[in-house]
Amino acid sequence: MQKQKRIVAVISGKGGVGKSTIAVNTASLLSLRGASTLLIDADVYNPCVSFHLGLLPHPVGLLDVLENKAKIEDALVIDPASGLRCLSASIQLNNKIGTENLGRLIKSLDYDYIIIDCAPGLSSVVEDVIAASNELVILMTPDIPSVTAAMKLISLVKDKIDHTRVHFVLNRVAEKPYELSKREVRTLCQGRLDASIPEDAEIPKSISSKTPAVIHNASAPSSRAISQFSSMVFPEAFHRGAIRIPFLGTIGGGGRPLFLDNYGFR
Ligand SMILES: Nc1ncnc2c1ncn2[C@@H]1O[C@H](COP(=O)(O)OP(=O)(O)O)[C@@H](O)[C@H]1O
Ligand SMILES: [Mg+2]
Repeated sequence: MQKQKRIVAVISGKGGVGKSTIAVNTASLLSLRGASTLLIDADVYNPCVSFHLGLLPHPVGLLDVLENKAKIEDALVIDPASGLRCLSASIQLNNKIGTENLGRLIKSLDYDYIIIDCAPGLSSVVEDVIAASNELVILMTPDIPSVTAAMKLISLVKDKIDHTRVHFVLNRVAEKPYELSKREVRTLCQGRLDASIPEDAEIPKSISSKTPAVIHNASAPSSRAISQFSSMVFPEAFHRGAIRIPFLGTIGGGGRPLFLDNYGFR
C-alpha cells in the first residue's frame, strides 16, 4: 500500500514572522531523522530557503518545472548537512508566475514529507499551494496585527482544509509586557496554539552562518522548541529511531536513537 504523503504548507497573514525559519528547520529535522523530505520554496518573489541553507543559487527551479522547461531531477538541490532535497522558486523578474499545475507536480513526487514555504498573505500562488497541500502550519508573532492577519487568512481558507490539520505556531515570544500573552493568542485562535518558539538570537546567527538553527545550535531554546513542535506534528518520523548525522549518513533505526539529546529530546 502506498504511504500517505504529508504535504504541509507554511503560511502566515503577515510577512517576517518566521515561516522560512520554521519550514527550513522542520524539514531539516525530518531529513536528519531519515525521512525522505522535500522542501519547496514557493515564495516566488522573495525565495530565501537557499540563503538559510547556504546553497548556491541554482539556475533551474520550481517555475521552470511547472512550465515544463526543466525536469524535476535537474531542479533539485541536496543540502549536504541533512540530506534534505530542496526545490527553489528561482524566479527571473520577468517570469510569469503560473502555479496551477503545482498539485499535479506534487502528486507525482515520491517523498514522505513535502514542506512548502510560502509568501505571506493569500496570493494566487499561496492559494495553489494550499490546494495542493493536506496540512497547514500558520505562523504568528505575539502582536495584534500578526495574529489578526493570521485569523483572517484562516477564515479565508477554512473550507479548503481539514481544520484538525492546521497547526498554529507563535514565534519570537520574548515574554515582554507589551506582547500578547500565549493565553490571549490561544483565545484569539479559538483554543488552538500548538507551539511557542522563543525570541532567540541563535536564529539570526544560524541564518548568517547559513546552517539551520537545529544543526547550528541544537540545544538553543529556539531549536529545542522547533524540535518539540516537529516531533508533536510528525510523531511517526521522530519515534522510529533513526537519525542522520550530518556528513556521516543515517544511523540507528532500531533501538534508542543516537545523539537524541542534540535534537532536543530525552
Ligand atoms: N525565534 C526567532 N528569534 C529571533 N529571530 C527570529 C526568530 N524567528 C525568525 N527570526 C528572524 O526573523 C526574520 C524573519 O524570519 P523569516 O523566517 O524569514 O520570516 P518569513 O519567512 O515569515 O518572512 C529573520 O531575519 C529571522 O532571523
Ligand atoms: Mg520567508
